[in-house]
Amino acid sequence: MSYLVISTSLNPESRSLLLAKEAHRLLSLKGKAELLDLRKARLPHFDGGKSAQSRAVKRVKEKIQKATTIIIAAPVYNYDVGAAAKNLIELTGDAFTDKTVGFMCAAGGKGSRMAFLGLAGSMLMDFRCLIIPDFVVADKGAFEGERIVEAFTNERLQLLVDKAVKLDGAGLPK
Ligand SMILES: Cc1cc2nc3c(=O)[nH]c(=O)nc-3n(C[C@H](O)[C@H](O)[C@H](O)COP(=O)(O)O)c2cc1C
Repeated sequence: MSYLVISTSLNPESRSLLLAKEAHRLLSLKGKAELLDLRKARLPHFDGGKSAQSRAVKRVKEKIQKATTIIIAAPVYNYDVGAAAKNLIELTGDAFTDKTVGFMCAAGGKGSRMAFLGLAGSMLMDFRCLIIPDFVVADKGAFEGERIVEAFTNERLQLLVDKAVKLDGAGLPK
């Protein structure tokens, strides 16, 4: 089993990165797990043409293709996931085909809990991703400095990881 956790926030003080790090730690106890921080990946903006052929995109695409299960951590901006997460999917597209995918979001409040649903739905319909329904959304209160202190958030994180492990990269029936 091979897990890839992708942190898509480009914020130097990202909270969703803290969720990604914890998911990576927990998944590492269960199998091969890698954490990909998009701040370091230097992906171009998708332009419908050559951008998708860049070396940075190829490197990221390869990691996605090798993984059976991918957890996407994202910030909530304007009631949706941040644009960098959408850009990642636009650039790497069908590398996600038949993957098992989970979502974790950092939000400012409690009003945007379903922010990732649009992207998740598109990945289900476009790439037949099996979306793990046990998502994590954490607001400011879940964190103290670099630590995740809210019991509910830690429980949700553990649940997401447990379900990812249980699904075993099964994917949807072909
Ligand atoms: C431009 C902008 C838009 C935001 N929009 C929302 C929003 O619609 N709903 C929400 O709950 N939080 C919103 N927030 C708060 C962020 O979700 C919060 O800061 C979160 O920690 C971002 O994730 P990150 O720390 O991983 O970058 C917004 C923040 C910014 C800067």
